Amino acid sequence: LFTGCGDTKVEDKKPTSKSENAGPEYTLKFSHVVSPNTPKGKAADFFEKRLEELSGGKIDVQVYPSSQLYTDNAVLKALTLDSVQMAAPSFSKFGKIVPQLALFDLPFLFKDIDQLHRVQDGVVGQKLKQMIDDKGYIALNFWDNGFKQLSSSKKPILMPADAEGQKFRIMSSKVLEAQFKAVGANPQMMPFSEVYSGLQQGVIDAAENPFSNIYTKKFYEVQKYLTVSNHGYLGYLVVMSKKFWESLPEDLQKDVVQAMNEATVKEREYAQELNNSQFEKIKEYAKTTGKLEIFELTPEQRAAWKKAVSKIYPEFYDKDLIGKDLINDALNTK
Ligand code: LMR
Repeated sequence: LFTGCGDTKVEDKKPTSKSENAGPEYTLKFSHVVSPNTPKGKAADFFEKRLEELSGGKIDVQVYPSSQLYTDNAVLKALTLDSVQMAAPSFSKFGKIVPQLALFDLPFLFKDIDQLHRVQDGVVGQKLKQMIDDKGYIALNFWDNGFKQLSSSKKPILMPADAEGQKFRIMSSKVLEAQFKAVGANPQMMPFSEVYSGLQQGVIDAAENPFSNIYTKKFYEVQKYLTVSNHGYLGYLVVMSKKFWESLPEDLQKDVVQAMNEATVKEREYAQELNNSQFEKIKEYAKTTGKLEIFELTPEQRAAWKKAVSKIYPEFYDKDLIGKDLINDALNTK
């Protein structure tokens, strides 16, 4: 097992050799909660192949999808213990560590994905990563999923009032809690791994997810109505155990950065492709089974939602929550 200091070797492997066949010297476990056929899942697999290649096999990357190893809440603790070396939780999951990452949860904050990328790639993104580093993690890159859609088993959600009284599963985010409270709904925090059964058993009525997660976790099977709302964004920060990072020699750290940067370019492509193609598959399911109705918000309905939920921004002006400056910097990013 990797013990994590200096050039410590994986115990049951042969001694170091520069040759490619010497076997791995480091084991990097990458834990995530979604299916392999998602933007994050595919990018994690790409990263695995690429880093193994770049490191000449010295780093053995093992990807564990679908919460097999940890839920997102547990993984953040496990990273500090170096029980796992890498994860990519969604921004909402960092609430207890760096609540400011919930900036990305604020509904209707971004005009489109390009503006959002400029925020992530600019000063705001740097500041947020620094906050994570200051908490004893290594912040790597931001990864996309995409914009979220509303679904329900109770009634179609078109106007904000339609959400009233419905129990919505949310990620562990104060912003998402405020968003649903603003429309009189009843938000319930729940790990991703429990959402399907929660919807199936009626513990919750409704949810918000991007198409990719709705499709790969089959949430469409346990919902009657789906509304294309694109009201908020779901994305991730890839983080690494500091102990693991510091145990790597400089050349392998460079390989990690390169593999990560290449995986990030791919990830953004996967996010676009999969959310489009998997939406088509959901539409096909709706058409062939008649068990799901799909709606698109009209510009008027969208404006009503924007008005109803963006009034929560001032609740997060305190810099210990998100901060007015960060919110304005994001809003003013061209
Ligand atoms: C969720 O909990 O809904 C998401 O964080 C799942 C994911 O990682 O896409």
